Amino acid sequence: MDITLTSLEAEHSELLKAKIASQIASQGGWIPFSRYMEMVLYEPGMGYYSAGAHKLGSGGDFTTAPELSPLFGAAICSTLIPVLESLKAQGQPTQILEFGAGSGKLATSILGRLHELDFQLDSYDIIEISPDLAQRQQERIGRTINELQSQTQCLWLSELPKDFKGIILANEVIDAIPCDAIIYQNGFWYWYGVALENNQLTWKVGSPVAQDLLPHNLLNESFSEGYVTELHNPANAWMKQVAKHLHSGLFLTFDYGFPENEYYHPQRLEGTLMAHHRHHAIQDPFYLPGLCDLTTHVEWSQIARSALAENIDDVFLTNQAAYLLDAGIGDIALEIGDPSNPETFLPISNSLQKLLSEAEMGELFKAFAFSKNLSQLLPGQTLEDLPGLRGRNRL
Ligand SMILES: C[S@@+](CC[C@H](N)C(=O)[O-])C[C@H]1O[C@@H](n2cnc3c(N)ncnc32)[C@H](O)[C@@H]1O
Repeated sequence: MDITLTSLEAEHSELLKAKIASQIASQGGWIPFSRYMEMVLYEPGMGYYSAGAHKLGSGGDFTTAPELSPLFGAAICSTLIPVLESLKAQGQPTQILEFGAGSGKLATSILGRLHELDFQLDSYDIIEISPDLAQRQQERIGRTINELQSQTQCLWLSELPKDFKGIILANEVIDAIPCDAIIYQNGFWYWYGVALENNQLTWKVGSPVAQDLLPHNLLNESFSEGYVTELHNPANAWMKQVAKHLHSGLFLTFDYGFPENEYYHPQRLEGTLMAHHRHHAIQDPFYLPGLCDLTTHVEWSQIARSALAENIDDVFLTNQAAYLLDAGIGDIALEIGDPSNPETFLPISNSLQKLLSEAEMGELFKAFAFSKNLSQLLPGQTLEDLPGLRGRNRL
């Protein structure tokens, strides 16, 4: 692939590479892949998310559903409103908390839709690991709050408050949490980490993986020699913490991934790691460290088990198209656009196509939700009564 870099970009990537190399040297010549991924994405001032790369949208490296269209956030409001209304009816604050809000577009589309529906939200808070993105979010959301003359309070928090009552959202956040890589050789699983050879970052096999860390699919199926996949202990630990801190309400996230039987399928020989640079998908995770986004697919079964360990009511997984259609995205599109006017309706129908088509985001992307103490808020109702979540549970 032919990518032209400015001298500043090339220098930035070389500096981060040197820092990773020195970390590898100080650890005896090998670091786990999760440490490498943490450095390339989040090393202060140098990682992809910590430094100033443009990242999201058409001028960046990748596009997400909220970047494509405000219809995505508007449809999500259909799921949120019954929960928010019951909080309000009980005299409790109506609050949404979003993890990893990117450029802030999901927040502004939700705030805009709630305003249209005349719902007064008390707070929309954000937990964002990237200082650069947090600053962009503050600018964009601040503008929207002013334009709407909204009374909603918006704060950037460093951690999830204990006993949170309300709604927790995350779009494409779990795929950005560092994972480990493992490789199958001679009948055993080994950590697959990062070393430096001839001044190039490269894969290197480490010690054997303890059996109790391996998902049962990896112990019970047979795999080809050299099969590579990922383990997601940091993402699972994150999910457990979020479930623990939710006192009552709803957690809703969207991301690409599969349940374990598809994720650890013997034919998925090379795992799911992928880098993105200027809308190119790149399979080499060592390509231009710090200038590429690096992601992994989500393994939903273990995410669900991590949440279930924290006394939640129930979990739900469906594909993004089924979720959005059940949440009424079609009707919302007709509300905001006029299909008899092709000029204004074409962009709307193009974004609907991207969000819903099986060949684009409709099938690979999933909606995953759980509730906790929902019956305290919506007596007699379960997660599967909420708009968006009334279809087939894929877990
Ligand atoms: C792929 S981007 C998605 C951004 C946005 N949600 C969207 O859909 O456009 C991942 C986002 O998650 C943030 N992030 C990753 N890990 C996080 C964590 N543990 N807590 C909060 N934010 C996190 C990143 O900084 C970034 O904003």
